[in-house]
Amino acid sequence: MLEDKIKDIESKRKKWDEHAERYDEWYETFKGAAENYVDWELLKGYLPKDRNAKILDAAGGTGRITLPLAKMGYSVTLCDISPAMLKVARQKLLKEGVLNKVQISECDVHKLRFADQSFDFVLCWDGMIEAAKELIRVTKKGGKISIFLVNKCGFAVNMFRENPDSALALLRSKSDYVYDEEERYMAVSVDEAREIFEKERIKVIEIYAVCGMLDLLSIPKEIQESRSWDEKFFRQVTEMLLRLSKEPSVKGLSRHLVLYGERI
Ligand SMILES: C[S@@+](CC[C@H](N)C(=O)[O-])C[C@H]1O[C@@H](n2cnc3c(N)ncnc32)[C@H](O)[C@@H]1O
Repeated sequence: MLEDKIKDIESKRKKWDEHAERYDEWYETFKGAAENYVDWELLKGYLPKDRNAKILDAAGGTGRITLPLAKMGYSVTLCDISPAMLKVARQKLLKEGVLNKVQISECDVHKLRFADQSFDFVLCWDGMIEAAKELIRVTKKGGKISIFLVNKCGFAVNMFRENPDSALALLRSKSDYVYDEEERYMAVSVDEAREIFEKERIKVIEIYAVCGMLDLLSIPKEIQESRSWDEKFFRQVTEMLLRLSKEPSVKGLSRHLVLYGERI
């Protein structure tokens, strides 16, 4: 069991090390920019008012979230298992003159090196629900948490065409492991996510549907992948995505959920 976990971490580290130099390129596409826009619009409403607050960006990769947070004046701790992802982050932070606002730590989110209740806000935008206890441990009482989760129903819908048996098995299960781009994640529904976090003394504030909603709008692949676009269309698409992210009747259909909660 322990050996499996170590192998899992090793293979994730290798994958992200290999991918590091190209990771940010995806956010230059229409799809990436739209999803990044929605992620940020949602996050902005939960950031601490006090710019001296301490924020942990766990599994924060190349600093997509850390860099803007540091520019806003927050003290950020960026942790990740991939040295190559962290190297890209360091270069960007240095270039933008905010490296002094960020502490970079190579570590696994399941075994954080920080004391209990160290942070006012803890983010983990990589679907690792098994790390929830550890992420909550380092969040101050009254502090906020934001975690990406793999959305069970949305995953089953996407999987059905290629593998109807697995899609149905997933929907029949309470919560189950799935492989997303070769990585193993536990997939949960909106209600299961709420239940899991509430058991861990998190008051769930809201759960939003994010990622993969562009497919629901039937936007052609060429547009999704293009690197230049019509601004009016971009605004229309992002407004659709933001409105849908909050709409209970479609929340099950996204690829990910992002949960916002408060530690009580
Ligand atoms: C999809 S990227 C997300 C990066 C960043 N959170 C963002 O939203 O742009 C996933 C990141 O999680 C990191 N990661 C995966 N498993 C991890 C673990 N157990 N502990 C720490 N980081 C991990 C990877 O190295 C990679 O940088």
